Amino acid sequence: MIICRCNEVSDFEIRKFMKKHPHASFEALKLVTSAGTSCGRCKPLLQKIHERFSNEQPQNNQLRLPF
Ligand code: FES
Repeated sequence: MIICRCNEVSDFEIRKFMKKHPHASFEALKLVTSAGTSCGRCKPLLQKIHERFSNEQPQNNQLRLPF
C-alpha cells in the first residue's frame, strides 16, 4: 500500500527501514525514505508507524526462574 502518494513510498519500504533502524528519528525516516517531504498529508500515518516501531520492546530472552 502506498503511504506517501507524492513520493510513491509504500508501507513496505517504511516498515523495512524501521525494522532495520528501530531507533531512527522521525526526521531520519523522512530523509531516507523521502516519505512526508512534499505536501505532508501522509505525516500523521507516517508518525503512527514510526511510533509503533519505536515503542516496540526488544524480546526478553532472559531465563525465568520458577521462584
Ligand atoms: S503524500 Fe506524502 S508528502 Fe504528500
